[in-house]
Amino acid sequence: MTIAPGGSYEQLSRRNGYTADPLAPAVPGLTSFSTVCRFRGYDFSSEIQSARHRALPSSPASFVNPYNVLDHEHNGIPGDATWFLRADMDDVEIFQIMADSLGLERGTRVISINIQQPGQMATTHFDELGRLAKRYLDKKDALDDQDKFVRYLIALTDWNLGQFFHFGNGLWHQWETGDCVSFEWGSVPHGTANTGWWDRAILQIAGLATPDSRAMLLANDNRIIRLERP
Ligand SMILES: [Fe+2]
Repeated sequence: MTIAPGGSYEQLSRRNGYTADPLAPAVPGLTSFSTVCRFRGYDFSSEIQSARHRALPSSPASFVNPYNVLDHEHNGIPGDATWFLRADMDDVEIFQIMADSLGLERGTRVISINIQQPGQMATTHFDELGRLAKRYLDKKDALDDQDKFVRYLIALTDWNLGQFFHFGNGLWHQWETGDCVSFEWGSVPHGTANTGWWDRAILQIAGLATPDSRAMLLANDNRIIRLERP
């Protein structure tokens, strides 16, 4: 089993020049993720519940770029294998407030909840932000410059056994509700699996960076941000 010739992973790893030794140390930004902040004081149960009603299965076959299907089928994995359930949540006020505090430009955000059920996995891949590109076609040039669009993952429940993300050589696990991380979505290969017995719910926020969002990432202080129900 190998990387499929002409598949998404081969194309994007060549384009992005990712050649890190898997045994090298995990370096935030280059071969790992960065911790950004900790949202605290908010119970996301009702938001997760509404996401369950809206969520649809997400698989390589449902992505904008079909080349990921090739990677899967080359390795005997069905192209429509469910990676997780995905729900659009742009209309939820608390999530817009969180995006505000991350400093993302209004009107350029894509916000979703991603629920990974026991046994589901997202194989290692690079992001292309296809949904964002489709929605903000006028900003397509910005997508070629990764620094312009930032992507955050925020845990909506406490970590439980068997759940993890890898970003390059870095592993994210043992998160608490509200923990927020970011990663270089286009140049760091990443994947996630739920090998445990409990659903894991993550909020994904992507959007156009501003001086505020850049300053926060640079500060790298894992600050606490208090939330209240709007
Ligand atoms: Fe991804």
